[in-house]
Amino acid sequence: MPDQPATIFDPSKSFDDNVDHGPFGRPSNEVYQNKGNPTYNFLGHKLYSPFGIGAGSLPTSRHVQYGFERGFDVICYKTQRSVPFPCNMFPNVVYVDVDGDLTIEKARKPLIGHLSSDKPVQKLTITNSFGNPSRGPDFWEEDMKQAVSAQGKGQLLIASVVGTAQNGFSPQDYYQDFADTAAIAIKTGVSVIELNLSCPNVADEGVVCYTYDAVIDIARRTKEKIGDIPIIAKLGYFTPAQQELLEKIVVDSSKYLSAYSVINTIQAAVVDETGKQLLPGPGRLRAGVCGRAIRWAGLEMVTRLTELRQKHNLTYEIIGIGGVSTPADFQKYRTAGAEIVQAVTAPMWNDKLAEQIKATL
Ligand SMILES: Cc1cc2nc3c(=O)[nH]c(=O)nc-3n(C[C@H](O)[C@H](O)[C@H](O)COP(=O)(O)O)c2cc1C
Repeated sequence: MPDQPATIFDPSKSFDDNVDHGPFGRPSNEVYQNKGNPTYNFLGHKLYSPFGIGAGSLPTSRHVQYGFERGFDVICYKTQRSVPFPCNMFPNVVYVDVDGDLTIEKARKPLIGHLSSDKPVQKLTITNSFGNPSRGPDFWEEDMKQAVSAQGKGQLLIASVVGTAQNGFSPQDYYQDFADTAAIAIKTGVSVIELNLSCPNVADEGVVCYTYDAVIDIARRTKEKIGDIPIIAKLGYFTPAQQELLEKIVVDSSKYLSAYSVINTIQAAVVDETGKQLLPGPGRLRAGVCGRAIRWAGLEMVTRLTELRQKHNLTYEIIGIGGVSTPADFQKYRTAGAEIVQAVTAPMWNDKLAEQIKATL
């Protein structure tokens, strides 16, 4: 257990337990009060602060409401699908040992993971290996409506969606499923969509953000389907050798997209102290790693997207995400060019992070 108890999402409990009974934190009468008028702008919305929680730790409207009530002003409802999809086997979060930054070089070798940790939140690096579970629209469509109504003045809910590769699907059917899932989400009244193009935890779906045709096709189909609702693409880390690919993807997809969110996770093999795969089940040797050790990669991607925006005279906005656990981390992302900063790992244990960041604004 890290030095603070998990509140928003408790990874020591199963995903279903969190969905059915979470959040397990403070009583909801401890509410953060935003004061005055919201002054930050994002995708046409006024916000009290440019900080919030990215896709992952808020799988229901109760979790979303908990986040808004603690002053996180830009919140993603956890990625949803057009069909029910199971969660990877428990545990999904383990604590990994990384000395400093998880560089791409270091991520080529297995990392040692542990089922518990006594590290402070600011030093935590963890796996998130859920596989984008979803109970399907029968569950989340109604629940997302509740999440939409939990938005306070100066707050914004984003719906994260992903396509599902199904039996008999062509690649185009799969790309269309991203758009169709976005169309279900906007029926709930949500005003911004995020396309999760970078989930690394579903063995047979692959990470679409590194395939030019896939990104352009998904972005175009979603734009055609949902019209004026702004669309964000969530991308993974592109190595310097992939810079040309990143540039081509961003330049050509930005006509359909309003923002990019970087980054998701860095993938690495995670083993126990004897070298055995730690997360149970097939296809789970490698897992998405997030938290402190990937902060460098999120910051670098924000810097590169800021430079590309300037170079090509584009107008997209940028969400910086990865390893933010202090007001200083938040500030670094803003200085690098991010309009919005989000975190997922740190707020799971520190639900006062928004309050702490707001104290410095
Ligand atoms: C528990 C957990 C669940 C996650 N689930 C999702 C998800 O459903 N969709 C997604 O796009 N990213 C997901 N992520 C990735 C985060 O959105 C984020 O990009 C990544 O964790 C880096 O931020 P952090 O270092 O602040 O955690 C998840 C992360 C965590 C920790």
